[in-house]
Amino acid sequence: MKYGYFDDAHHEYVITDPHTPVKWINYIGTLAFGGFVDHTGGALLCKQDPSLNRITRYLALLPASEFKGETLYVRIRRGNSYQIFSPYYVPTLDQYDRYECHVGLGYTRILSEFYGIRTDVTIFVPTGAEVEVRDIRITNLGSEALEIDVIPVVEYTHFDALKQLTNADWVPQTVQSEAADGGNILVNYAFMHKQTRINYFTSNRPVSSFESDRPRFLGNHEYGTWAKPLSLFQPELSNYEARRGDNAGALLHHLGLFNPGETKRLITQLGQAANLDAALPSITYYRAENHVDEAQAELRHFWDTYLATIQVETPDASMNSMLNVHNPRQCHTTKNWSRYLSLYQTGYGERGLGYRDSSQDVMGVLAHIPDEGKELLKKLMHVQMRNGSAMHQLNPLTMVGAIGEAMEYEDRLHYYGDDHLWIVLAVAAYLKETGDFTLLDEVVPYYEKDKQNQPLESGTVFGHLKRAIQFTHDNTGAHGLPLLGYADWNDTVNLRKGAESLFNAHLYGVALLEMMELCAHLQQPTGKYQAYYDEMKARVNDCGWDGSWYIRYFDVDGTPLGSHQNSHGQIYVNGQSWAVMSGFATPERGRAAMDSVYEKLNTPNGIKLSAPGFNGFDPIVGGISTYPPGAKENGGIFLHANPWAMIAETMLGNGDRAFQYYNQINPAAKNDVIDVFECEPYVYPQNILGDEHPQFGLGRNSWLSGTASWAYQAGIKFILGIRPTYEGLLIDPCIPTRWDSFKVSRLYRGVTYIIAIHNPNHVSQGVTSLRVDGQPIQGQIVPFLPPDQVHFVEVTMG
Ligand code: NOJ
Repeated sequence: MKYGYFDDAHHEYVITDPHTPVKWINYIGTLAFGGFVDHTGGALLCKQDPSLNRITRYLALLPASEFKGETLYVRIRRGNSYQIFSPYYVPTLDQYDRYECHVGLGYTRILSEFYGIRTDVTIFVPTGAEVEVRDIRITNLGSEALEIDVIPVVEYTHFDALKQLTNADWVPQTVQSEAADGGNILVNYAFMHKQTRINYFTSNRPVSSFESDRPRFLGNHEYGTWAKPLSLFQPELSNYEARRGDNAGALLHHLGLFNPGETKRLITQLGQAANLDAALPSITYYRAENHVDEAQAELRHFWDTYLATIQVETPDASMNSMLNVHNPRQCHTTKNWSRYLSLYQTGYGERGLGYRDSSQDVMGVLAHIPDEGKELLKKLMHVQMRNGSAMHQLNPLTMVGAIGEAMEYEDRLHYYGDDHLWIVLAVAAYLKETGDFTLLDEVVPYYEKDKQNQPLESGTVFGHLKRAIQFTHDNTGAHGLPLLGYADWNDTVNLRKGAESLFNAHLYGVALLEMMELCAHLQQPTGKYQAYYDEMKARVNDCGWDGSWYIRYFDVDGTPLGSHQNSHGQIYVNGQSWAVMSGFATPERGRAAMDSVYEKLNTPNGIKLSAPGFNGFDPIVGGISTYPPGAKENGGIFLHANPWAMIAETMLGNGDRAFQYYNQINPAAKNDVIDVFECEPYVYPQNILGDEHPQFGLGRNSWLSGTASWAYQAGIKFILGIRPTYEGLLIDPCIPTRWDSFKVSRLYRGVTYIIAIHNPNHVSQGVTSLRVDGQPIQGQIVPFLPPDQVHFVEVTMG
């Protein structure tokens, strides 16, 4: 590939040219402590909340060549002169002989060679720790001995990330740094948190001198630059303890003489604790090389175990890279970080977890970390209202909910019409994965509180699901379709109060199917939900069919949106894919609707969300018309919606088309267009510009997107067709006809199934025989087997 390559055996993507079109990042740690590292060593770190407890100052809007958050300088001393460079390439931009950024799982390793010096740095957060470790190895590759100094540097931000940008007096007056342990530890804090929350920066070797003030480090009233900090041309730093201003941390280490071939190791730590005493045990622990080695081994072990849950071997190498390594990893990232913090979602101000976002994100990790998924689902339900609707967002630290942008227009509804329904799908997926029905009886409060901040009412998880269904049932409009609310899944169509959403109708349909299946499994009556389902199906088909596809919305005055009658927004993909997923579409209408998607919305870079794009701001439709045609929800390729079209195609039995849709958004398959696409080839972005835009094919907003969970589900559960049910593991592939065979290894309820699927007749769908350990099985479901064993499943399609 142009900027690097996939190394699936090591679970890495290796960048070999730092001049990527935009920064390509990687996540380290978790929301508890962590953040992201870019491929040139810049890092944005926070603890628990990127908005209110941010540690490093990473300004994504600065040019790629700029210092961001952290860097490392290497200094070669020759007599009285110094040669300085950064082994990360940025910010000194020297000519390198070798550069590799290994984007690993939970770590980034930057290996470079400049001026005969190899620097090999592994950057990670040890599991459960509250410190970023940089494990640095320097080797003299030349034939002469060299005197080498190493200077790791960090730039701090005020803990309130937004205030750092908006208040240039209060913030600088309140931040301070001081030295401890004879200058071996630099402590930084906001004055108000001096006794409660400090950042520390230290290493495992003696610090010869330090700097904590950015102007002094850069020199000459900051006419010195990060590319050439003037202080590094002096033998020592000034040992200045900053009492205000722009605080930085620089630790000068004299590593001494390096003989040819000699390697020395330096380990730095950037962490946060209540006070220095509280930090000392961790500081001491991670100063030991063997503890850092163990922490890296532990991280590798976690990811090896995580990924081993599902492994595939298909004829498509890019699909294998994604399904075996990068897609499950991205699912873990979205489950952890929701939409909190990325290069694009910059984590300023209030945000928290998205109710609908996290409900969907959880579905991508249930096979791997079901317990964590369960906890998150229960947490989300704390912001469900007694009437069954849900708050749009939740701050997991304070458990305070927020309605997000639903307040933007006074005259529109102040809830999102879809939020509450997603969790029905997620809970059902959890139950099918684990068989842990105790979840349904657990009691979770509803959101409303009394004056003492005590919940007014609590209910079982099952009760929460029932209220979610009931809310949609009870809040319908003129056609009997669910109200839109402020918006449905598509945040940007904000029609007037009373508008109806066909998407909400379909999501309600899927939720009802799950409720009926669950009730039937629990031997509880399903009649009420069946009646709700039949009623909505009839309404959708009575008023929603537009001739060749389904309408997407009705405005309060009955005007359709997503109809051939509209000049803009004539057809929406979600109106079609979800009509198939809900089972509301008849087979004929479903096929016709999905063919319309292919004809009117498909492009070589993915399926557009809608077409044609609005061309100018229209207050009636709202947010969608703030974008130029082809961007984001306005006719852009909104990737999150693509897997739903794949799933719909598998439900209609068209495996060739489902795979075509899979492949055309697969970032790992974007080598030939990477300079147009620009984003990381190892994660799904949220959006790609559509063909109405002059920059068609440009990706943006990588990492934190519901695409991760749904592309994973589409790939594993629907194309490869390995799907948990209440009765066992369903094998129902819908694959490209050209495939001869494929294999899946799936750990399910403690049993490893090694599944080999043969396709001698080159069909898309249909299973003619199923054998488990050589014994024939009727149907397509592998029944539950005793745990702790490996079973071999042979499947023939035909
Ligand atoms: C991004 C939001 O995070 C997600 O919840 C929403 O569904 C999409 N935008 C589509 O508008």
